[in-house]
Amino acid sequence: MKKPMKDTCRLYTDLAWLWPMWGDAAEYEDYCELVADLIRQHARLPVTTLLDIGCGGGKNIMNLKREFSVTGMDLSPTMLAQAKELNPECTFFQADMRTFRYGRTFDAILMDDAISYMNCREDFESAFRTAYAHLNKGGILVVTPDVTLETFQQNKTTATQSRRDRLEVVFIENIYDPDPEDDQYETTILYLIRDQGRLRIETDHWTLGVFSIDTWRNVLRETGFDLQEGRYEYEGDEYTMFACVKTG
Ligand SMILES: C[S@@+](CC[C@H](N)C(=O)[O-])C[C@H]1O[C@@H](n2cnc3c(N)ncnc32)[C@H](O)[C@@H]1O
Repeated sequence: MKKPMKDTCRLYTDLAWLWPMWGDAAEYEDYCELVADLIRQHARLPVTTLLDIGCGGGKNIMNLKREFSVTGMDLSPTMLAQAKELNPECTFFQADMRTFRYGRTFDAILMDDAISYMNCREDFESAFRTAYAHLNKGGILVVTPDVTLETFQQNKTTATQSRRDRLEVVFIENIYDPDPEDDQYETTILYLIRDQGRLRIETDHWTLGVFSIDTWRNVLRETGFDLQEGRYEYEGDEYTMFACVKTG
């Protein structure tokens, strides 16, 4: 059997300078409005504090900080530096979402696309246990699967263009599941970077997790959450948003 391709995660390390060009914070506004709606609708306490787990470059935080006092965490120090620059008034810390214990709790937690990096059942369950441990009683976790077994589109390829001054970048993203029997799929990215017209081509690769929608429901319930579901539409695709309340 061939060895799987190695994960490079360059978008969060040496190519993290490209992240601000891949969608600006305004594009995250509608999604964050839905997150805030779910929080208002389902939390069983007045929500003032929010933890963004896997906050990346802090684009969600740009929107959520209008309503909540936000703390962000991420594994990548480079992404955290960007998040801090965008949101100097917020608090940030570096940690691994599978294992951290921060020493304080929050009224709400957002776990956005970082949950996709949980590419085995053990990590997936650990991330939800970590979130649960950081919520106040009556508090709420909002989490949205990027893909589930039901919504996964084999070989889906998208291209996004961005321009800043004389720098032009095309992000070409492909998802592929080489073995539908396991809990993983591959994301491969091609970056076409043209600085004053001169082309440089870079590549990136991740192994991400994909679970059925019922596995999501079961794992969240087994963690101890009371579940509600919302829907989010983006570029013609529909996503399930889980509103998970800590009742115990
Ligand atoms: C696509 S970015 C998130 C972007 C973010 N939603 C925003 O508003 O800019 C995914 C993030 O997940 C983080 N991540 C991946 N694995 C992680 C882990 N085990 N613990 C914490 N963060 C992790 C990466 O470092 C990366 O910054």
